[in-house]
Amino acid sequence: MASELVKKLEERRELAKLGGGERRIASQHKKGKLTARERINLFFDEGTFEEIDMFVKHRCKDFGLENERYDGDGVITGFGKVNDRLVFAFSQDFTVFGGSLSETFAKKICKIMDMAMKVGAPVIGLNDSGGARIQEGVLSLGGYADIFLRNTLASGVIPQISVIMGPCAGGAVYSPAITDFVMMVKNTSYMFVTGPNVVKTVTHEEVTSEELGGATTHAEKSGISHFTADNEIDALNKLKKLLSFVPQNNMEDPPKVECSDPIDRMDSDLNDIIPENPNKPYDMIKLIQMVVDDGDFFQVHEDYAQNLVVGFSRLGGKTVGIIGNQPLVNAGCLDLNASVKGARFIRFCDCFNIPLLTFEDVPGFLPGTDQEWRGIIRHGAKLLYAYCEATVPKITVITRKAYGGAYDVMSSKHIRGDINYAYPTAEIAVMGPKGAVEIVNRKQIAEADSAEEMTNKLMEEYREKFANPYVAAEHGFIDDIIIPERTRPRLIRAFEMLENKVDTNPKKKHGNIPL
Ligand code: HXC
Repeated sequence: MASELVKKLEERRELAKLGGGERRIASQHKKGKLTARERINLFFDEGTFEEIDMFVKHRCKDFGLENERYDGDGVITGFGKVNDRLVFAFSQDFTVFGGSLSETFAKKICKIMDMAMKVGAPVIGLNDSGGARIQEGVLSLGGYADIFLRNTLASGVIPQISVIMGPCAGGAVYSPAITDFVMMVKNTSYMFVTGPNVVKTVTHEEVTSEELGGATTHAEKSGISHFTADNEIDALNKLKKLLSFVPQNNMEDPPKVECSDPIDRMDSDLNDIIPENPNKPYDMIKLIQMVVDDGDFFQVHEDYAQNLVVGFSRLGGKTVGIIGNQPLVNAGCLDLNASVKGARFIRFCDCFNIPLLTFEDVPGFLPGTDQEWRGIIRHGAKLLYAYCEATVPKITVITRKAYGGAYDVMSSKHIRGDINYAYPTAEIAVMGPKGAVEIVNRKQIAEADSAEEMTNKLMEEYREKFANPYVAAEHGFIDDIIIPERTRPRLIRAFEMLENKVDTNPKKKHGNIPL
């Protein structure tokens, strides 16, 4: 081939790689942000990224835009390998019209989403954008809608993960919100439907971008963000780790890795982790770490609704999704946020064939007007619904309290839990001893010489009868009572037994989860 043709192509490529130009790249760096291309280069295995539509330009002829056309039009799209597995990605380039979304920009994203759906591979969105390209008007809005539709159709078919690395405002937030996971970078990213200026005009509230929609806000308050990264490098590393737990699509099993942690490892410290006093808390995260491969528990929603912990780990090299009540926070009670957090995680795992492991220590749903008025019934029902509907292998270990409706909810046998184990410290009953005797024995207590003595005596009787795992085990509601130190081998064997489990739900268009 004529060398000038090769030279021209190379020159065009070099120009395209500059995006909005050196000045804007410098400005991006000055903000402590990487460029879209630097992010792509850091994310993909070296030399594996294949770019698509590098020469696409916008077609807008208004507002003088016809004189300002950049190759790629503000978004880098393509596919490559991440830890040797196929991944599609788009990376919004803030140096070109602030990464704003045009008709052609949206078409580029849709193209790779369509490809990813055909071949069954995850799509990653690296978001850094001023939103709809103002000069393109409705064409831009239409472009967003084309993406939203694809996000929805791809949901539950291929994993979709959004990393927010800059502004993400207006309707643009709804694409990340539909995807499976959102990760935000501290200090440099924000998400909101309307920014601080509009907020001030409408509600007279004075708030900064960071307070309104920064990484910490969405990780702790709204729960929109599942992961918080300290910086962009940290974000890309966390993203790779997250991908390592999940399969390529809903037809595959999660990847299996070499496991050097002995399958039959027992940990005698587990025997002492549950305090003798049932009202004393302990750290469920520590318990989980003592059981799983190499103590590695990758938390999702780490800073949100901490009374329930959820995340990914491996047992014998195979991915499990773990849900655990956290006695350290609100005694592990289930509330609105914890219910939604758990339900969303369970549904992700069920979509993508990830077995569920539940560690249960729950005194019940959180009482009070605040919870009732904000809809604990509706939100608690989401958690129940998600567990009921899930057909992946489901194993529960009741470590201590399994009271009331929460006993049913947390993957009990009655809602298709495959194996339910209990520690000898388990207490399975309609409610705690105090509440129970005060209702059932109200008259007896009122007539006693000492109400306190009588209450204590009755509580002791109640505890003996109900606050143990044996009644449930007698009915077969608990498959076995296990010594805590043996948790790891027992779980690995049970999951192995369930490896080829097949279970289905009745044929339907889709269920109607209470929203
Ligand atoms: C066209 C845009 C743009 C936009 C930014 N730019 N946003 N161009 N459409 N939406 C351009 C700027 O003109 C500028 O061009 C460059 O990008 C960088 O912008 P700056 O303002 O200089 O950067 P910065 O100070 O960092 O501020 C970033 C920003 C701000 C906070 C994002 O640009 C901003 O507020 N943009 C508008 C955001 C917005 O309201 N978007 C619409 C949201 S509604 P030059 O040439 O100087 O480099 C929406 C609806 C979606 O998105 C609906 C879907 C259903």
